[in-house]
Amino acid sequence: MQQELIDPHGGKLINRMAPQELLEDLRAEAANLPKIPINAREQSDLDLIAVGAFSPLEGFMSSDDYRSVVNNMRLSNGLPWSLPVTLSTTEDVARSLSIGSKAALTRDEKIVATIEVQDIFSYDKVSDAEKVFRTSEEAHPGVRAMYAQGEILIGGPVTVFERAPLQFPKYNRTPAETRKLIQEKGWKTVVGFQTRNPVHRAHEYIQKCALETVDGLLLHPLVGETKSDDVPADVRMKCYEVLLENYYPRDRVILGVLPAAMRYAGPREAIFHALIRKNYGCTHFIVGRDHAGVGNYYGTYDAQKLFDEFEPSELGITPMKFEHAFWCNQCEAMASTKTCPHPESSRVVLSGTKVRNMLASGQMPPKEFSRPEVAQILIEAYRSRQSVADLA
Ligand code: ADX
Repeated sequence: MQQELIDPHGGKLINRMAPQELLEDLRAEAANLPKIPINAREQSDLDLIAVGAFSPLEGFMSSDDYRSVVNNMRLSNGLPWSLPVTLSTTEDVARSLSIGSKAALTRDEKIVATIEVQDIFSYDKVSDAEKVFRTSEEAHPGVRAMYAQGEILIGGPVTVFERAPLQFPKYNRTPAETRKLIQEKGWKTVVGFQTRNPVHRAHEYIQKCALETVDGLLLHPLVGETKSDDVPADVRMKCYEVLLENYYPRDRVILGVLPAAMRYAGPREAIFHALIRKNYGCTHFIVGRDHAGVGNYYGTYDAQKLFDEFEPSELGITPMKFEHAFWCNQCEAMASTKTCPHPESSRVVLSGTKVRNMLASGQMPPKEFSRPEVAQILIEAYRSRQSVADLA
């Protein structure tokens, strides 16, 4: 008998891909519809809606869901959901649309989907940014992306004709494919790990601590849009591969990718990341220090605290919370602020900037910070891209 997998968020895995047998007719119909051009981020969201990664969302949010999410971190039906998923456009394009009719979504002039327009509404970017990102400063990359959006939002369910170009096809499994793989492996419990960085020793430590108590690990790096000084996804993928090859048990880990954009929304994004991984079949989700944070906008453990504002049963996926991890020279082991009694001077803690500077000048960070195989790939990437700015 096959074991039961965790239910997707909302109970059902959404599939908004157009059925193959209807595709020709749908394309013919779409050719005569008003067109809404979408940007890269919206295409990535569309893709994730289509394959059910954003279940229960069947499309872009209408105003009732949007306002409820911004104000209360819940969809209008009460289900927890922490970040808006929106389609924006200009007032000009909005004038060509009517509620109750369909429109075609285009990317580089090509029709990639249709939307049943249920709602056309305006929103207050500054006040909404303040609620979602806890800041309205444009210096925040998530706020900046929001300010760059069109003035009008369009809500409604979508039907997707073709997926966004697949990055890393070998690892780009849909939630349904990932669930199937988990089932084949016979894992009852799976911990998801979100990352936008190379996996350093601290990441490895918390993953392995988690893996001590569950059956499997879904190493699930986000490979969509990230800010310019994050390490590019192609370089990171090489780091993950070499790390898994050398330091992880093959039969306990699945490497997959999440083609989503980073929002840098800290606590709210931690909930969002967890719900997405539930859709991919994870029962547990790692939340460490400053999850999805940027600059000093969020407190170190704010993301962990936000999970406590929901009933465990309404999230469904269990957070595994970890304190700041590092190598301690006196413990002679990886440890965390929770398990190490020694002073900071005994700990190998390096800032992101310091590590970037070391790698850019061809210097290996200490092996207590990063596995040499991983550091080597990063050094080569910096070298081949000539300058730090190029890698950015
Ligand atoms: S994130 O934006 O994707 O959260 P990152 O890839 O650095 O950034 O982190 C991935 C996960 O590891 C997050 O849950 C984060 O909180 C956790 N994490 C990163 N570094 C540490 C650390 N030194 N100690 C504990 N947790 C950490």
